Amino acid sequence: MTGALDGLDEHARRLSASSLSSLIAGDPARATDFALRVGPLYANFARQHYDRAALESLFAMATRADLLGAMRRMFDGESVNATEGRAALHAALRGDCGSTSTARSARAAALDALARMRALVDALAASDVTDIISVGIGGSDLGPRLVVDALAQPNARFRVHFLSNLDGHAAQRLLARLDPRRTAAVIVSKSFGTRETLLNGGIVRAWLGDDARLHAVSAAPQRVAEFGIAAERSLPMWDWVGGRYSLWSTVGFPVALALGSTAFERLLAGAATLDAHAASAPLGDNLPVWHALTAIWNRNALGAATQAVLPYDQRLRLLPAHLQQLVMESLGKSVRIDGAAIGVDSVPVWWGGVGSDVQHSFFQALHQGTQVVPIDFIGVARPDHAHADNHATQLANLLAQSEALANGRSDDNPHRRHPGDRPSTLLLLDALTPETLGMLIALYEHSVYLQAVLWGINAFDQYGVELGKTLAERLLPVVEGQGEADDPVTRSLLAELARAR
Ligand code: F6P
Repeated sequence: MTGALDGLDEHARRLSASSLSSLIAGDPARATDFALRVGPLYANFARQHYDRAALESLFAMATRADLLGAMRRMFDGESVNATEGRAALHAALRGDCGSTSTARSARAAALDALARMRALVDALAASDVTDIISVGIGGSDLGPRLVVDALAQPNARFRVHFLSNLDGHAAQRLLARLDPRRTAAVIVSKSFGTRETLLNGGIVRAWLGDDARLHAVSAAPQRVAEFGIAAERSLPMWDWVGGRYSLWSTVGFPVALALGSTAFERLLAGAATLDAHAASAPLGDNLPVWHALTAIWNRNALGAATQAVLPYDQRLRLLPAHLQQLVMESLGKSVRIDGAAIGVDSVPVWWGGVGSDVQHSFFQALHQGTQVVPIDFIGVARPDHAHADNHATQLANLLAQSEALANGRSDDNPHRRHPGDRPSTLLLLDALTPETLGMLIALYEHSVYLQAVLWGINAFDQYGVELGKTLAERLLPVVEGQGEADDPVTRSLLAELARAR
């Protein structure tokens, strides 16, 4: 291990001789000492496979890396996206934690756009539109899709649908159940150059047959105009907001339509609460810092190749998908900002699903498989349904799984033995509200950024997605029958496709 991460190996070696259950038994106070509360969001790290000495080294590492200074630099609009020479001011979309004129003018632009967004929501609410299609992909889709699904209300003014996939079946199936005369659409694309979104946007525009119900969200107004969407139905975006961090911007327009502008502003307020905590809490009490250090510990000290996120609440079923993009597009890098190799492993594969369903699919492997998978369990204390027995059983399952994975169970029969030592964090929301969901997502955003700082990488670029896109553009005419592919395997695959088509 190198650089800022020096010393973790030694703790890992020392702790490999102690089971997680023995660590907890030997220091029961960690059940409360390794826990933090930020208003309605509680986090417990007691079931992570570290002890106080290892944590001390982790926090010393956080001090050396000046994590709090790094947070400040991001909030103030410094060029933390160094490879693209840009700020990452998503926090300015939801609050005032930046103290520079750059952060203040971003905030002013965000408030101005929010007011315009509210006016567009009101105008649509006054029309006879019943359904909205949001066309976008990646960061222009996953965050709003998650929030709308999580907080959906039965009597909402609009039904909001999301169209992301390039596969034409997605558009075909969606449009088949909607009435074009009662539907409006919004094309969400920061670049307004994403092939998937422009193709689906074109399908939806043709199907609507009336550009007066077509809207856009983009940082490229010229391209929006060329596509034929009027400026008065377009909302701005900015290069200082990364796609996967853009939920809080006008990219949240579908959220405001589905849940109302006030609910959207409550989501922003929740995230701003977490921002204020991240900006001001000392290292040892700082939830994103704890979360990031735990991630680094599991990846670089314990060598975990994957990380699971398991919400025990049906409404959060899309959280793993959103976090996959947030975490893996941000941290899936092999070189540091200066171009040198990181020298240690960066992001593990993030994956997950919703409890209790997943207990009946992949939990066997979590309990007895050869790979140890660290887990973020997410629970909600107070449900919004009336099925008390279900909820009590759901909570019992959540607690039981975390306990069983950590402590295991000895048995003379090797098939029945549970090895234990499977670490997890429990994140608990008092209730699922716009505010708590905003806090939860912002927690992950800040944790991701802090992990990037510790690894010395840029969390805000995504050059890795470019090569495949460029090749697809080059192969499109070949698939359509013009020219030949350069690559022999691709040529042979094209021949097979031609045979089957
Ligand atoms: O997957 C690459 C990516 O650039 C994401 O970062 C982004 O959120 C997504 O494509 C969509 O981009 P756009 O909003 O420009 O259409």
